[in-house]
Amino acid sequence: MTLAGSLRAYVATLGVFFVALHTLTQFGTGPSPTSAKSRHLSLQHDKQEPKSSQGQHDDESIEKMRSWRNQYQQLCQDERSTKEDLLRSLSELLQPRTGASSEPNNDEPCKYTILDFGANVGDSLGKFIDSGIEPCPGKDLDKNPPRLDLDTIRYSNDNFHKRGNPLIRSSRSIWKQVESLPEWYCYYGVEGNPRFTPRLLSLEERFNHDVLPQPMRRVRFLTQTVGAGKDGPTKIYLDTVNEAQNFWGSSILPAHKDVVKSDGSVQAAASVEGITLSTLLLKTAQKVEGGHVLIKMDIEGGEYAVLDEAYQRGVLCDYAQSNVTIHLILETHRPDVIGESNFDLEKWRNVKQSLRDCGVILQTGRDAGR
Ligand SMILES: *[C@@H]1O[C@H](CO)[C@@H](O)[C@H](O)[C@H]1NC(C)=O
Repeated sequence: MTLAGSLRAYVATLGVFFVALHTLTQFGTGPSPTSAKSRHLSLQHDKQEPKSSQGQHDDESIEKMRSWRNQYQQLCQDERSTKEDLLRSLSELLQPRTGASSEPNNDEPCKYTILDFGANVGDSLGKFIDSGIEPCPGKDLDKNPPRLDLDTIRYSNDNFHKRGNPLIRSSRSIWKQVESLPEWYCYYGVEGNPRFTPRLLSLEERFNHDVLPQPMRRVRFLTQTVGAGKDGPTKIYLDTVNEAQNFWGSSILPAHKDVVKSDGSVQAAASVEGITLSTLLLKTAQKVEGGHVLIKMDIEGGEYAVLDEAYQRGVLCDYAQSNVTIHLILETHRPDVIGESNFDLEKWRNVKQSLRDCGVILQTGRDAGR
């Protein structure tokens, strides 16, 4: 049973939660890395992922990505090439996989892990991938980054992000700092809203089996699951008004303004599974020197309980102090959005400072996750 699969099973049969959790704890910790990261690399296409727990199938993807990155960089630097040439190269990158993928679903913890709390319809997964496309200012391919089409899992020549997308900008700078690339990462997206379940499961399936190279080593969505202060069944209150923004205001806090707007009398709530950051981290990320965990969190006020738990239980700090680099891109929500009674400024300041003190690299902002 895959991790995402077992988490989905919680939803179907809440009673078996702890049985499934037990299954998860039986996953191994994965082999340790064999080589240290080289420090002199500056050009993106020269980066070599240290070989560790990757199967042949992963290596094939990573090798294909590497050779494509080489080619793309050469095009970027070649004075005779045009923007159209670069976009053509990009559109040819991801191909339908011919033949079945031979690799079984594998849920070993990863050395490079992205935890995406508030995955919504999968846009942030796309942005993590897009942020790994090297900007090419000479060909006017830096300000409006190419956008992966999540319906086809292809790049085209007419799909771009708006100037200065915050998540792309911060992810780009993080890959630089860590000297890593998106295709090295296992991605875990956590999303509570049941409306998005079919779409996310289909995305997961297609990302893992239908394209080559795989732009992420592994994609898992934990659907009908929310980041929470404790593991176990809980509720998400649904934003049913902001359709244009994919109902982005859904929250575990019934006082959230978009939830209140959605229904003044009877609030629409869905039963979901709560998962703590500590639990998810332990299941998905290897605690190994030189590892990296990028956490993106945009969960409409739920962040305070989640991060308080992560700090109190000590797991996040333990990873950071074991020399796993931890970046946290956090979209914070103010008391006027989530309700005054749900916000304790002094406690939040303490948690934030404590996480920073133990080495977590924290970037916060009102639109950090967008
Ligand atoms: C982390 O890195 C520091 C500095 O290189 C080293 O002294 C320490 O032993 C490392 N800790 C672990 C747990 O690997």
